Amino acid sequence: MVRKRVAILISGRGSNMVALIEAAKDERYPAEIVLVVSSEPDAEGLKRAAGANIRTAIVEHRVFGHDREAFERALQHELVQLRVELVCLAGFMRLLTPWFVRQWEGRLLNIHPALLPEFKGLNTHARALADGVKQHGATVHFVVPEMDSGPIVAQAAVPVHEGDTEATLAARVLEAEHRIYPWALKQVAEGRVRIEGEHCLIDGQPVHKA
Ligand code: GRF
Repeated sequence: MVRKRVAILISGRGSNMVALIEAAKDERYPAEIVLVVSSEPDAEGLKRAAGANIRTAIVEHRVFGHDREAFERALQHELVQLRVELVCLAGFMRLLTPWFVRQWEGRLLNIHPALLPEFKGLNTHARALADGVKQHGATVHFVVPEMDSGPIVAQAAVPVHEGDTEATLAARVLEAEHRIYPWALKQVAEGRVRIEGEHCLIDGQPVHKA
């Protein structure tokens, strides 16, 4: 089996990154993590990646001021150098331009802490609690130029409990994230996922909420 060469882009804690790194430790996993790039020089995830002997790079967005494309060209340079085939965003807090997204069309995944298309954007847990939803969750999707949109590869729902706080709900969702991201990357790396318009088919079947 030829494993797909994967880069993970982070900006912070990196717990989803760790979940992917752990999954890829198994030789039978169809992807290997060849690079972690952080947009923040002191992201906690960088230390965790280095601790797992994964090559790391910092592409600090501040250095490029408002020139988003220059930032992305620097990012692209890192990815091309390492012959990366798939990119996973994992708590990467920069919006990507259509230019970058197009370079990676169908090869760029993101994880979002909500059941998309519900609660796009930030502070999803607080908003879910404020809206009084009974179900919340996480979504892995292909990235398209529009934020938190794009064909969904995997979704997991979790219940919202009476008395939940942002922290307790976030922790429950995070567990689901750590389950579905490695699973979704596996499906994509094995070539099981076909994008048809705005949806994904996995082994020819529509995606169901887990
Ligand atoms: C996760 O909740 C992820 O869904 C969101 O940002 C958070 C990142 O957490 N995009 P971590 O850095 O993976 O721990």
